[in-house]
Amino acid sequence: MREKVLGSFIVFEGLDGAGTTTQMHALSRYYEFNRRKYVITNEPTSNPIGRMVRDVLQKRIQTTPEALALLYAADRDDHLHNPSYGIIRILEEGSIVISDRYFYSSIAYQSVECDPVFINLINDFPSPEFIIYVDTPVEECLKRIEKRGGEKELFDRYDFLSEVRKNYEKAFSSLPDGVHLIRIDGSGSAEEVESEIRKSLAPYSL
Ligand code: TYD
Repeated sequence: MREKVLGSFIVFEGLDGAGTTTQMHALSRYYEFNRRKYVITNEPTSNPIGRMVRDVLQKRIQTTPEALALLYAADRDDHLHNPSYGIIRILEEGSIVISDRYFYSSIAYQSVECDPVFINLINDFPSPEFIIYVDTPVEECLKRIEKRGGEKELFDRYDFLSEVRKNYEKAFSSLPDGVHLIRIDGSGSAEEVESEIRKSLAPYSL
């Protein structure tokens, strides 16, 4: 399934605190300005299965790492194929779809605690045309998470995020033809990162 590439589908990936959410919004303002049809979305979603994922992350539900991985994958399948709000349908209608996280997050995060073979198997989804990987050092991510305050989710830990970062590299080392990996240094200011992303996407017609 990964060999199938969904055109005009852009996903942001990175560690917690890397800045993917900020950058997704910044990119959407660019398409807004250019009057290009787009939809922004995120995983875990705010649909019923995604809400269950957040209940696990915020410790309102206790389960196993494998069950959590299956929930992420189920949320993703619904996110792609749901007949009313699915990404595939939106793409077919001619919009760009920009998602804050996609299956690379599962490969990177869930493989820390689960068998990577199992995680790969349950994440056999089509590939996006563009992956924007906001690569921010773990120390910087942790500083930003601390500054943001609020409830710390399950995954905000140094060793854990270092493993996640390694897993991202593995996931990106073999991508199918037609998938463009745009790697951006996320340690600069939000404006600097935003401008780098725009520059990197400029050569492609979207
Ligand atoms: P996210 O919503 O990006 O974080 P935030 O609430 O800070 O905006 O994602 C929530 C957490 O879920 C985050 O720690 C990353 C993790 N995650 C996975 O472990 N696997 C996945 O497949 C996805 C999509 C997210």
